Amino acid sequence: MSFLSETLARVKPSPTIAVSNLAMELKAQGRDVISLGAGEPDFDTPENIREAGIRAINEGKTRYTAVDGIPELKQAICAKFQRDNGLDYTPKQVTVGTGGKQVLYNALMATLNHNDEVIIPAPYWVSYPDMVLLAGGVPVFIEASLETNFKITPEQLEAAITRNTKWFLFNSPSNPTGAGYTHDELKALTDVLMRHPHVWVLTDDMYEHLAYDDFEFCTPAQVEPALYDRTLTVNGVSKAYAMTGWRIGYAAGPEPLIAAIRKVQSQSTSNPCSVSQWAAVEALNGPQDFIAPNNVMFARRRDLVVSMLRDIDGVTCPVPEGAFYVYPFISGLIGKTTPKGVKITNDEIFATELLNETGVAVVFGAAFGLSPAFRISYATSDAQLTEACTRIQAFCASLT
Ligand SMILES: Cc1ncc(COP(=O)(O)O)c(C=O)c1O
Repeated sequence: MSFLSETLARVKPSPTIAVSNLAMELKAQGRDVISLGAGEPDFDTPENIREAGIRAINEGKTRYTAVDGIPELKQAICAKFQRDNGLDYTPKQVTVGTGGKQVLYNALMATLNHNDEVIIPAPYWVSYPDMVLLAGGVPVFIEASLETNFKITPEQLEAAITRNTKWFLFNSPSNPTGAGYTHDELKALTDVLMRHPHVWVLTDDMYEHLAYDDFEFCTPAQVEPALYDRTLTVNGVSKAYAMTGWRIGYAAGPEPLIAAIRKVQSQSTSNPCSVSQWAAVEALNGPQDFIAPNNVMFARRRDLVVSMLRDIDGVTCPVPEGAFYVYPFISGLIGKTTPKGVKITNDEIFATELLNETGVAVVFGAAFGLSPAFRISYATSDAQLTEACTRIQAFCASLT
């Protein structure tokens, strides 16, 4: 019998982290690698936020804090929900964790019993299914299609709900596709949920502020206020404020659920980093004016990547509404062969050969539950993106 737990055997390591590590290894060997694998902005945390962190250190704010966040940060989070989403929460309805990832994990740990089902639209963020499995639950997937721009339909949601469904895990704009649900599209889904009062909504709004053109972000409890009492709205500072390393995420929802999440956190990691919490107060309360110009830049990069990918025969690439990812579909390339004689039978082989032959690192679609495709993170310079897409074009053209 293995020394390691049976639960762990059901879980796989994060494939996105694996791609980043492989790209780093190849770079260390002197290869010319362009990594389009990372899910983080390529600019520094804004100066006012960095300064708030430095101030916190110098003022000795370096001790344990309340397990699920300092009151100042909880206040800032309540103000943010009111300002951005029209949602009223009190500090007792708010929890702060070490990244949105920990908040999601704690929420699942705090609520799932054996065989409880969690509905996850695919393509999904790589960690969702494994978190559900770690917590003893059962992930139930709904496959979104290319035809609906990677968004699920109300009919699909209705068909996936069973007596055992505990959560509907929703993510818009999405990692990995960048797809964002409009108000009407989301309302159609919340209408389904209104017919099933035992199903709760776990919404991951991490990419709220990364929305382009005229797309308007909305979140389930805002679109359907009657869901407020059974929704946990998760968000964080990692993406919009370029604070991935600071590790602060948060959520708001019904008080008993928040208390349960606190209990999990109190017996595992305790409070998130005190210094980071003060920096997050500044992120949420300070000037937000850098977000709009950043989004103009991200939208330009998105357009650059989409147009270069659309020039490739065999590749289909919808224009995403937000986040910093595109998810080209490669059905037209499956079955082809590389000049070295490797047959591209699936998207993992495609991504491996692309990296071997051109040094461009992307994440294969199977990791996100919808194939054949791959994910590009365009949070890197225009010059790198142009070079990477040129190499992808050449690689695809070389397939026969
Ligand atoms: C959809 C989604 N949710 C949550 C997270 C976790 O964010 P954090 O860095 O705050 O843990 C990520 C990070 O990649 C993400 O893409």
